[in-house]
Amino acid sequence: MTTVRLGFAADWAGFRAAARNLAAAGARPETITWLVGEEANLFADDTPPPPSEASFTVPRRYVDLAETVIMARDPERFALLYGLLYRIRHGESGLLQDAADPAVHRAMMLAHAVRRDIHKMRAFVRFREVSDDGGTRHVAWFEPDHHIVEANAPFFVRRFATLAWSILTPERSVHWDAERLRLGPGASRADLPEDDRFAECWQVYYRAIFNPARLKISAMLSEMPRKYWKNLPEARDIPALIAAAGARTEGMLAAPATTPRLARIRAPAADDAQATPWAILKNQAQVCRNCPLWEHATQTVFGEGEIGAAIMLVGEQPGDQEDLAGRPFIGPAGQVLDHALRAAGLERSALYITNAVKHFKFEPRGRRRIHQKPNDAEIEVCRFWLDQERELIEPRLTVALGATAGRALLGRAVTISRERGRLIDLPGGARALITVHPSYLLRLSDAAAKRREYAAFVRDLRLAAEMAATGMGLQHSEP
Ligand code: URA
Repeated sequence: MTTVRLGFAADWAGFRAAARNLAAAGARPETITWLVGEEANLFADDTPPPPSEASFTVPRRYVDLAETVIMARDPERFALLYGLLYRIRHGESGLLQDAADPAVHRAMMLAHAVRRDIHKMRAFVRFREVSDDGGTRHVAWFEPDHHIVEANAPFFVRRFATLAWSILTPERSVHWDAERLRLGPGASRADLPEDDRFAECWQVYYRAIFNPARLKISAMLSEMPRKYWKNLPEARDIPALIAAAGARTEGMLAAPATTPRLARIRAPAADDAQATPWAILKNQAQVCRNCPLWEHATQTVFGEGEIGAAIMLVGEQPGDQEDLAGRPFIGPAGQVLDHALRAAGLERSALYITNAVKHFKFEPRGRRRIHQKPNDAEIEVCRFWLDQERELIEPRLTVALGATAGRALLGRAVTISRERGRLIDLPGGARALITVHPSYLLRLSDAAAKRREYAAFVRDLRLAAEMAATGMGLQHSEP
């Protein structure tokens, strides 16, 4: 009989060296007794394995499996692993592919249990804070099922690199002082400091994320098995939360709909020293509920650009991409616009760009959101914001891109083909110019028409640039 005495329960280096020597010497598994630390040898005297220089390769898959299984709290794990190695060396090189083999199956089950335990330790370690003359430390108590503490320590070092902490467990303790990791003997739960503010934080957090309407006790117990509860401050609330879940769900169903998140955004108060009038206006528009379009849109898409710009561009309403990004004209129509602006010698950053309607109106179709034209009432209600933007920016020229913008600006229906390219006086001395909407150009399928219309669009924008630069009138008409 040969006896191998390993240094500690998950002594991978010791096992690997011994197993290598034994396998090289052809030692049969049943002739080996595996012991850990001071464990007594009931069956034979200690006879160490013969040293061996022989080298051989072991499949990577075996090493990965063995490194994990060695942490299992199963007294047979060393024999099991050496048995597998012996068989791999003696004609069963593909053994680990055979999950139906009882020994392989057993090893896989143990590896699974160890991995789960590692994961649970990462999820359920709860530190408490202790401050004394030596400074502040964070101490946690955890009861692992397997011998996973050393293997898991680097995870906690990475995650809490700058804190000093100790994780106490019944068999081993690990201590990190923000520089060095130290292993120590086991501890007892009584070594854990008193409950602290962190415990309360965990309780508050858990109560906040607990959704009574989604309660599934079996799924919850699988995620957070009862055996961990005694060391989790938040678990103290679980029985009461479960007991109250039914009534709370009924209350939720009976209650009127809550105001969605955007409605609670605080508009800066007028005396907020940081807030410019434009920022105040923009924030107020974020919570606009003046028409139903806000309900399905992601957010209000307010205007952006140069405050005091000579030219303001007004589009129709944000599209799908604008709705998601919260910025006007950044999708396909925006790209056409950017192109045309450059061709007309205008810098987008020198302009102010906004829309007649500030929420995306669409119809869901499968996973797509199909643009819908805003109606007259929606345009009229949203004019409130456009008027205020114009008052603040005071553009010399406002360019209406398309009929919706024209209506918002002039307060009447606009026929683009009849009115484009002419300057229109607005009340207060400013002027408007009507042109097409860039998405009209995108919709044209005939290439020649597309080129022609694009050139006309650029011409209109060039007129706008000249007019804004010189302040000179071109051809006037009444609003
Ligand atoms: N179309 C518009 O009218 N405005 C945008 O912001 C995007 C597309």
